[in-house]
Amino acid sequence: MRPVLIAACLLLLAPITDSWWASGSAVILDPRMVCKKNRRSRGRLAHICRNETGLLKEISRGVTLGATECAHQFRHRRWNCTTQRRSMRKILMRDTRETGFVNAITAAGVTYAITRACTAGSLLECSCEKGVPKPRRGRTQTPQPPAPTQTEQWQWGGCSDNVRFGLQKSREFMDSRYRKRSDIKTMIKLHNHNAGRLAIKNNMKVDCKCHGLSGSCTLRTCWWRMPTFREVGDRLRDKFEGAAKVISSNDGDSFMPESPNIKRPGKKDIIYSEESPDFCGPNMKTGSLGTEGRQCNISSAGTDSCDQLCCRRGYIQTSIKEAENCNCQFKWCCEVICKTCYVKRDIQTCL
Ligand SMILES: *[C@@H]1O[C@H](CO)[C@@H](O)[C@H](O)[C@H]1NC(C)=O
Ligand SMILES: *[C@@H]1O[C@H](CO)[C@@H](O)[C@H](O)[C@H]1NC(C)=O
Ligand SMILES: *[C@@H]1O[C@H](CO)[C@@H](O)[C@H](O)[C@H]1NC(C)=O
Repeated sequence: MRPVLIAACLLLLAPITDSWWASGSAVILDPRMVCKKNRRSRGRLAHICRNETGLLKEISRGVTLGATECAHQFRHRRWNCTTQRRSMRKILMRDTRETGFVNAITAAGVTYAITRACTAGSLLECSCEKGVPKPRRGRTQTPQPPAPTQTEQWQWGGCSDNVRFGLQKSREFMDSRYRKRSDIKTMIKLHNHNAGRLAIKNNMKVDCKCHGLSGSCTLRTCWWRMPTFREVGDRLRDKFEGAAKVISSNDGDSFMPESPNIKRPGKKDIIYSEESPDFCGPNMKTGSLGTEGRQCNISSAGTDSCDQLCCRRGYIQTSIKEAENCNCQFKWCCEVICKTCYVKRDIQTCL
């Protein structure tokens, strides 16, 4: 029962906020705080804060989207991207690969939410891109609609996701206030924001619809759409696994790989400058909550195996009863009536 008690205490300690912000995820990047801190400034950020309330709301949605995906990607790991305030604040103050992932997925989430709102027509400032999309700068390969056969034709049409606007606003809101700084942590942060955005920009898809008599496909209309956000999360998780450690270069305004025989990280890669703690035990300084009480999986060989998740401290096994539908009968007409059965299942939790 101890973990439950601890969680209850932490909840009591957390500052009381109004319900909308109490979602916790806002701690990662709280648009309201960003605006408050920059209220005397001029420029793009101040403009968004003062005059673009619709956009601000989408930015908050984007932060939540990123936080939810982060928790999903890390659910089987010691550090599970919990949005527990103090822990996340500590994670964000450091410069580990976890910090890099959170920054990347937050920038991606903000871009995604804004772009989606543009396509849905719910922002005054933007809409989807109609007709032939403009060529995309800096792309190596452009996905094309399926090659038309002799009897088929395709054309650009419909409503393409206007990712440019989302990318631009995400930059204005998240990056502009750091532009004048060139310390290594800031360089890394901006790099990872960009890596997050590229996970959307470089993975745009082409969707098509057929028009033609009786379902034939003599004319195809195609448009660009974003990948699913799960796909964005998967890609960034891969980048997290392969994240590169960097150090400040001699001139002081760029970075380079820590070890000379490592390839220079590319724009899409997540980078960091500090080693992560092992996240085994609670540590106020690093933001680690420890893994005591976490459920592990005895048949797994991965990060959620009892060995790895519990840091070799061992685990306890308990039986829980789970409700299940059983003895279902079809009743004329048209209902299925089931009984509730309880099945015993063993679960393992870390000591
Ligand atoms: C916001 O809009 C008002 C009225 O359109 C304008 O006077 C003001 O300068 C704008 N504020 C910013 C920060 O751009
Ligand atoms: C994430 O980890 C924390 C700390 O170990 C734990 O309290 C929380 O229940 C975990 N969340 C999930 C969804 O497993
Ligand atoms: C435990 O891990 C195995 C192997 O990876 C997997 O098939 C199973 O679904 C997992 N069980 C739970 C409860 O997550």
